[in-house]
Amino acid sequence: MRALVMTEPSQGSDRTEIREVDAPRPGAGEVTIDVAYAGINFLDVMVRRGDAGYAKAWPYVPGTEVAGTVREVGPGVTGLSAGQRVAAFTLGGGGLAEVARAQAALTVPIPDEVPSPVAAAAPLMLSTALLLLTDAARLRSGESVLVHSASGGVGSVLAQLVPVLGGGLRIGTVGRPEKVPSARDGGYDVAIARGDGLAEAVRAANGGEGVDVVLDPLGTSLLDVDLEVVAPGGRIVLFGNAGGGQPAPLPPVGQLTRGNIAIVGFSISGLSATAPRRVAAATRRVLDLVATGRLDVPLTEVGSLAEAPAVHQLLADGRGNGKYVVRLASPA
Ligand SMILES: NC(=O)c1ccc[n+]([C@@H]2O[C@H](COP(=O)([O-])OP(=O)(O)OC[C@H]3O[C@@H](n4cnc5c(N)ncnc54)[C@H](OP(=O)(O)O)[C@@H]3O)[C@@H](O)[C@H]2O)c1
Repeated sequence: MRALVMTEPSQGSDRTEIREVDAPRPGAGEVTIDVAYAGINFLDVMVRRGDAGYAKAWPYVPGTEVAGTVREVGPGVTGLSAGQRVAAFTLGGGGLAEVARAQAALTVPIPDEVPSPVAAAAPLMLSTALLLLTDAARLRSGESVLVHSASGGVGSVLAQLVPVLGGGLRIGTVGRPEKVPSARDGGYDVAIARGDGLAEAVRAANGGEGVDVVLDPLGTSLLDVDLEVVAPGGRIVLFGNAGGGQPAPLPPVGQLTRGNIAIVGFSISGLSATAPRRVAAATRRVLDLVATGRLDVPLTEVGSLAEAPAVHQLLADGRGNGKYVVRLASPA
């Protein structure tokens, strides 16, 4: 089968190639999937540039979310059968390939109403967005939400999920002024290009008040701003390190207790490893939201595996816009 292979860490796509490799076989509790579509994520970029803790070994096949049909079921798997249309979180990578292996616990059936390209964005991107708001931030009715990197894949779906979950004002920040229109088009009530005076601009956007929830994938580079703008009782969720630098220490306990502030960490890979059923439940829920028309996911569909490295470079350069999925096989 064909797979996208990263041969060694690199800042560019010069060490990424398509190779013929052996198709995986399922072990106990696993399935293999004939991949129709796979999601492309910033996670692939973090692996590619060699961030610590991502690729266990090189060469590495990236890709952590797929949609397709079950090819083979491993020993001990119940409730899934060959030919069934499924979406899966492929923990540890391997999704950008014609055949992927996944734990059955992280594999869920796709409702008939959901097209495969959209389903391919569910196990990682859509589930992350849902879990950030529900499990990590514990969003309550009417609460305001600030999202950094608002025009990206996760950022764009967060804008849609906040009202679905009963949340209030959505403020998004982006790294470049030219991304402001796409954050607005994506649903943010206010979109701000990050720069001097960011904390004042965020507070002004919320009528001079602090925001209830901050969702921050930028390591600790904006943590000072987050602490400045969060309301008493607010939650700051740290869920990424796009810049790749060494994270700074967290603020002293006294600052958190005095401010009544929670700082929460979130990793869907971590949760997939430790509590896969929670991730699968989130994937089922987002697929149901799509199936019932409550969540509409705009996608850029990339026609072949050969085009995936260019998308990785777009994301690495901070030029991505919304969500990208790649087609591995012709739609059924
Ligand atoms: N913890 C988790 O489980 C989890 C799951 C999914 C995604 N994430 C994180 O959420 C973020 C969004 O993921 P995504 O897949 O949807 O990607 P994305 O938002 O489409 O692309 C990443 C964005 O990060 C921002 N960025 C900031 N500094 C950057 C740098 N030095 N190099 C490149 N980009 C930089 C850019 O947006 P701006 O310049 O507009 O900020 C860029 O568009 C990523 O940081 C990702 O790691 C975390």
